[in-house]
Amino acid sequence: MSSYEARFRVWRGDVRGGGLEDFRVEVNDGEVVLDIVHRLQATQAPDLAVRWNCKAGKCGSCSAEINGRPRLLCMTRMSVFDRDEVITVTPLRAFPVVRDLVTDVGFNYTKAREVPAFVPPEGVGPGEYRMTQEDVERSQEFRKCIECFLCQDTCHVVRDHEENKRAFAGPRFLMRVAELDMHPLDAAEESGLDRKRAAQDEHGLGYCNITKCCTEVCPEGIRITDNALIPLKERAADRKYDPLVWLGNRIRRRSAPS
Ligand code: SF4
Ligand code: SF4
Ligand code: FES
Repeated sequence: MSSYEARFRVWRGDVRGGGLEDFRVEVNDGEVVLDIVHRLQATQAPDLAVRWNCKAGKCGSCSAEINGRPRLLCMTRMSVFDRDEVITVTPLRAFPVVRDLVTDVGFNYTKAREVPAFVPPEGVGPGEYRMTQEDVERSQEFRKCIECFLCQDTCHVVRDHEENKRAFAGPRFLMRVAELDMHPLDAAEESGLDRKRAAQDEHGLGYCNITKCCTEVCPEGIRITDNALIPLKERAADRKYDPLVWLGNRIRRRSAPS
C-alpha cells in the first residue's frame, strides 16, 4: 500500500464567521475525502464538525464543496486529485453554516412540505394500481434521489440569491412536482389541485432557465433537467396556451358561483 501527504484547506467556523485552515494529512490507497476528514478529526482537529452517516453514497448527509464543486465527501476518491494539489473543503454555499462543514439544510424540508402529496385515485384499492412500465421507470428514476441537496446547492437561482428562496423550490422539489404531475394515477386535478399552476405560481418554475447545473452534480445521475424540469415546463406551457384548456377555464370561471 502506498501513502503520501496531501495538502488540505478546510473551512472552520460557525454562524459568526470563519476561514480556511491548512493541514497536511496522510492519504492511503483507495481513500475518499471523508476518510481524510476523519483522519483530521483523529489526529489534528478533534472538534472538526462534519455530517455523515452511511459512507456509501446512500444517506445524502455528507454533502459539501470540494474545490468549489458540490460533492459527496464519501464518494469523492482522493485518486481524482493530483498528489500535489491543494484540496479545499468548504460547507454547502447555499445554506447557512452551523459549524465547520455542517450546514442547516432546513430550507429543503420547508420546500418538501410545500409540495402536496400523491392524491390516490378514487375507487382503486391498494394492490389494484396499474401503470405502464414506461411510467414506472420514470418515477423510479426520480425516486433514486438520496436528498443530498447538491442540486439545490448548485442552482444559481438560490446559490447567491437568498432573496429567491421564498419563491423558488429548487430542482429537487420541482422534480417532485413533475413526478406527481406525470404520475398516471395521481388524482390531484379531480380533487381541484392544479400541479402545473402550482409549479409556476408557488414553486417558481419560471426561475429555472434549464442550465442543467443541477443534473451535473447529482450523484445518482438523475437527469433532473431533461426528464423532470423541461417536461414540466412544457406541460405548464401547454396548459397555459392550449385554447381548449383556456376555454375550459373561462367557462369554469363564468359558471362558478359568485
Ligand atoms: S436547470 Fe434549472 S433548476 Fe437546474 S440548476 Fe439550472 S436553473 Fe437551477
Ligand atoms: S436530485 Fe440528485 S442532487 Fe438533487 S437531492 Fe436528489 S440525489 Fe441529490
Ligand atoms: S455518508 Fe452517506 S452519502 Fe456520504
